[in-house]
Amino acid sequence: MKSKLFFLTKVIALILVVACTQKTEIPADQKMNVFIGDLMNNMTLEEKIGQLNLPASEDIVTGQATSSNIGAKIKKGKVGGLLNVRSVEKVSVMQKIAVEESRLKIPLIFGMDVIHGYRTVFPIPLGLAASFDMDLIEQSARIAAIEASADGICWTFSPMVDICRDPRWGRIAEGAGEDAYLGSSVAEAFVRGYQDDDLSKNNTIMACVKHFALYGAAEAGRDYNTADMSRIRMYNEYLPPYQAAVKASAGSVMTSFNEIDGIPTSGNKWLLTDLLRNEWGFDGFVLTDYTAINEMTEHGMGDLQTVSALALNAGVDMDMVGEGFLTTLEKSLEEGKITQDQINQACRRILEAKYKLGLFEDPYRYCDSERAKNEIFTEEHNRIARETATQTFVLLKNEGGLLPLEKNGKIALIGPLADNRYNMAGCWSAAVNPDELITVLEGFKEVAGDSTDIFYARGSNITDDPELDKRTSPWNSRSYDTIRSPEELRVEAIAVASKCDVIVAVMGESSDMSGESSSRSDISLPESQKQLLEALLKTGKSLILVLFTGRPLVLTWEQQNIPAILNVWFGGTQAGNAIADVVFGKVNPSGKLSITFPQSVGQVPIYYNHKNTGRPLPEGQWFKKHLSNYLDISNDPLYPFGYGLSYTQFTYGELVLDQTHLTGDQTLTASISLTNSGNFDGAEVVQLYIRDLIGSNTRPVKELKGFKKTFLKAGESKTVTFTITPEELKFYNYNLQYDWEPGDFVIMAGGNSRDVKSAIVNWEK
Ligand code: BGC
Repeated sequence: MKSKLFFLTKVIALILVVACTQKTEIPADQKMNVFIGDLMNNMTLEEKIGQLNLPASEDIVTGQATSSNIGAKIKKGKVGGLLNVRSVEKVSVMQKIAVEESRLKIPLIFGMDVIHGYRTVFPIPLGLAASFDMDLIEQSARIAAIEASADGICWTFSPMVDICRDPRWGRIAEGAGEDAYLGSSVAEAFVRGYQDDDLSKNNTIMACVKHFALYGAAEAGRDYNTADMSRIRMYNEYLPPYQAAVKASAGSVMTSFNEIDGIPTSGNKWLLTDLLRNEWGFDGFVLTDYTAINEMTEHGMGDLQTVSALALNAGVDMDMVGEGFLTTLEKSLEEGKITQDQINQACRRILEAKYKLGLFEDPYRYCDSERAKNEIFTEEHNRIARETATQTFVLLKNEGGLLPLEKNGKIALIGPLADNRYNMAGCWSAAVNPDELITVLEGFKEVAGDSTDIFYARGSNITDDPELDKRTSPWNSRSYDTIRSPEELRVEAIAVASKCDVIVAVMGESSDMSGESSSRSDISLPESQKQLLEALLKTGKSLILVLFTGRPLVLTWEQQNIPAILNVWFGGTQAGNAIADVVFGKVNPSGKLSITFPQSVGQVPIYYNHKNTGRPLPEGQWFKKHLSNYLDISNDPLYPFGYGLSYTQFTYGELVLDQTHLTGDQTLTASISLTNSGNFDGAEVVQLYIRDLIGSNTRPVKELKGFKKTFLKAGESKTVTFTITPEELKFYNYNLQYDWEPGDFVIMAGGNSRDVKSAIVNWEK
């Protein structure tokens, strides 16, 4: 009764505050503070700690633990939110318990991994980044937000912005690749798409930037492994995308599983408080990754009580799944290991997020079953997903203009991914309905129409190793053919290929070969598929490889032997249609690699913005004794960052600077003429790179500082112009001050990070 009265008073207070505002315009923040202050005055310690607890539902599990008895805990006020609950019905049931049966009726916040779309799945983030089209990425996140919020979700654990230079790491698929500048632009685009301009709208969701920080630098590409690097590298090369997401107002931040400077990030005060809050001014809330507090005991940081106190002291506000906060913070408070203020602050931050999402005004704001029926997986969303996917594909090779194919004759569509519905979406597509995914075979039939005969054969398993297959997809082993032997599959494929005019081999990784806990030490095409490719080559027919992958693969043999290679990552719901659109020339590919592809896994880590070293190998050369190189392989990547071909050709003119000596805050204009000198209309991503020739610490040989995706009709020319200010010259120096230093700079522009036109400018302070 007492609690009912209290709740009523609060609602009246809120109404009064709103009413008063209309006359006196009380600032929104002040209103929120009053509301939350009143609420917190009535919360017990146990209820406050309850807000810091984020248990998992059993719908989607990524770690070892789930929480039992969730309903009972919600009633007792021991739950702040729930993780990965799927559907309006389930969300409503849980929310009802919170707002009708708990003492203070505080609504729950519902979070989910909405990573590259919801039920309408977009390409994996590594692929989205390859579009170099920020409007498109923002739009994909907007659609993801519309669909997720129509299904009860108000918070996504995205964007994942971990810079990664090691393709052995499976989670490279979830991020934007190796570059801090591109990664920052992508991070902002995702946040804008999710949150739009008002979090309280029923079709926006709160973003959560993750995994803070340096998770992508896990040693040897082994998931959850140690990361260790200098501050100067951290600040210049790894931290910018997190900071960009924070600046774009991401409402929450998730810690990572790795340690930094010997302290796991969930207990790292420097990271979560000094840097994130004090330097960057982050004012949202911090949650841990799945059981990351508990895992600090494995890291060797102490028992559960110790590591939970460590996390709160470091600046964690919410504990995902592990319940270390729930079960130990009271004791730590009694023992003086943490303070009441710290609990209050964490609780306040979570309540603020709920307030901003509009949950206090209407706990069922995101639970509209009409919206769930009408706004999820719409025709329009699918149309956009198809268009988006076409923009992410990267044409790696196209000898003799083999692509695009004409819509006639006989096409052999061969390979374990050619008619494989379950592997189209890519990792982390939790809300996908696999039956709705479009296969390549279906796409080919739809796009090529009746004038083309398409013959399909599977040809091989994704891998011939059933144990590897099981490890890859422990819940749902999908790719191993238990009925026909590899030999039988291959014989059938060769027979099909032999009667056709051209072979399109659809091969690569399964979607579970990348993503969480999917590190690989051998990043080449699985042997079963390599053998099939060799056999197909022997038929003497024209051969095109359509390659599915969640990471850079080593494709040295393929580059040498296969005439045409189209890299399609994992394209989402409309993958099959989008691939057919590009293969048959309805869309001219324009994607550029968001990450370097090595010649050999032995070159890893390999990235375009490396340092020069004291013994650099001159460009174009291979081995010279006592220079920085390998005996057995050149330093070159197979495909450099920013690389990607088109069905047309683009010719670059010389780079023209409007001045060569500048001072202070002047602005430099760099222009380059671009001509579509081929026979197809198409888009080219013109990239701007800068090298700071002399610095107070060593500087990379080049850094991406701008890009412009430019559409040109066949035969058309345009001048592409970049405006450069001292802002583009800034970096973190040895003392971690962010500034630029006077001197000479090489300005470069081109169609990838290797093939650039350049000019030198002198810029004094
Ligand atoms: C992953 C996170 C994810 C979380 C919740 C963890 O295992 O590392 O990226 O958000 O699970 O599903």
